[in-house]
Amino acid sequence: MTRHFLKLSDLSPAEALSVVKRAQELRRSPDPGYRPFVGRTLAMIFTKNSTRTRVSFESGMAKFGGHALFLHAGTTQLGRDEPIADTARVLSRMCDAIMIRNNSQADQTELALHSRVPVINGLSDIHHPCQLLADIQTWMEHRGDIRGKTAAWVGDGNNNVCHSFIEAAQLFGFTLNVAAPQGYGPLENIVSAAKGSVRICRSAAEAVSGADLIVTDTWTSMGQEAEQQRRLSAFADYQVDLPLMQGAHPDAIFMHCLPAHRGEEVTAAVIDGPQSVVWDEAENRMWAQMALLEFLLLS
Ligand code: CP
Ligand code: NVA
Repeated sequence: MTRHFLKLSDLSPAEALSVVKRAQELRRSPDPGYRPFVGRTLAMIFTKNSTRTRVSFESGMAKFGGHALFLHAGTTQLGRDEPIADTARVLSRMCDAIMIRNNSQADQTELALHSRVPVINGLSDIHHPCQLLADIQTWMEHRGDIRGKTAAWVGDGNNNVCHSFIEAAQLFGFTLNVAAPQGYGPLENIVSAAKGSVRICRSAAEAVSGADLIVTDTWTSMGQEAEQQRRLSAFADYQVDLPLMQGAHPDAIFMHCLPAHRGEEVTAAVIDGPQSVVWDEAENRMWAQMALLEFLLLS
């Protein structure tokens, strides 16, 4: 059966942990002679901008001896209304896996339904599961076992990375405190599926209190640019700054999927400061996705 990765919970807890452990191993001991994907290709469909996702998949495939094709959706026939199901049928006869970054999780499900090869979510309106593989890898590399620990999400709760973090809490056994303004909370069905791993907090200070990891994301995700002014004022009390970080555990680390907006969701003192692990986090996108591709194509 073809396995897809449209959301983090498409993996079992044991599978998710083994992908992250394999990512750590790939990073620790890279082997240029190990080229399991010679002759294999990954099609990458983008309807939105990307730096990390595109480069990490492309470099990861090259390191494994394979090739990635960058397909800007607007320059493919998708941009002229070819159905996504037909695109899936065609790409999956020529490629070994498909990655897609688009707005619609439902379209990704449709793509997967008609694909013979694994489909990977490189970000949708609802989830960003590849980001979480890298984030969990990074957290473990810096702090070891994360079972029973507490992470705090501060800012936009109705956010693709936040939703994947909620799924991660359930899969990896940590608690996620979420602090978001009224009307910007995470989707209720995702919170309730996480069965008690999530705590919705009234304030940023309450969420970070004693937390081992503080994480945020942009207040204005791709596609929400028209709401930017309204969002800047709605989120004003949810900036991650040094006084907020002081409420966390003294060993707490800071993460951000990037791109960051210094002076909005996070101050420069935090993201460029000693608790920040954002550059390891960005690099780990590549190792984590190499481990994911191995899992989907070789196991
Ligand atoms: N974090 C992330 O997905 O970055 P890009 O938008 O640059 O791919
Ligand atoms: N929430 C952000 C993540 C970017 C990687 C967005 O969707 O734009």
